[in-house]
Amino acid sequence: MSREILSNSEKYILQHFVHEDEDLVRVRKALIADGKFGINVSGTEGKLLQFLVGLTGAKRVVEIGVLYGYSTLWMAKALPEDGQVIAIERDEKNFIKAKELMGASSVAERVHLIQGDAREALASLDVTPDLVFIDADKANYRHYLDWAMRAVRVGGVIVGDNTFLFGHLIGEDRGEKAGAAAIESMRYFNETLAQAKNFRSVMIPTYEGMTLAQRLRE
Ligand code: DHB
Ligand code: MG
Repeated sequence: MSREILSNSEKYILQHFVHEDEDLVRVRKALIADGKFGINVSGTEGKLLQFLVGLTGAKRVVEIGVLYGYSTLWMAKALPEDGQVIAIERDEKNFIKAKELMGASSVAERVHLIQGDAREALASLDVTPDLVFIDADKANYRHYLDWAMRAVRVGGVIVGDNTFLFGHLIGEDRGEKAGAAAIESMRYFNETLAQAKNFRSVMIPTYEGMTLAQRLRE
């Protein structure tokens, strides 16, 4: 879960820079109603993703892990008319809800939802994404990263959420369990990007941790 008590800095940013439209409000309310609020990215992180889509001039975004589509919407709203977020969600109930919420939004045509196992879905995707956002099961981050590093275009960006792994990578006990596979996977994710010669990467200290990397060359 993300932090429920917001820092003053995050409150300030939310108040001044994060303006949810009615589509985003609808998704947020659905998450709250179903007790899932906090698993989604924060408004600040959503706005950052949107900023990156605009900055990279992205037309093709791949999102791994959708939940109800809160981050999906932030990104889709910065795409051109013919742009698309290919968004993969494994959980059937989340997928159905996301389908309904994305369908009701003003960017319905810019969201292509796929239900299923992301590793399988990615293996059959024929796309060179401008941006890949990874926010799914933490134990598989290493596999999602391997795919993304090969697939993303030069100049494109990879973003991973929860890259402090609920505090486990920074020696903080937040009462959330993570298995050995998830810890190993997240270490690999951050260390691989930190050291990759063909990427420039950085981590930003959001509460959950967000790792960003831009592909510099083949
Ligand atoms: C959880 C997953 C997330 O992707 C997140 O951002 C916060 C929490 C979770 O599984 O608890
Ligand atoms: Mg997340």
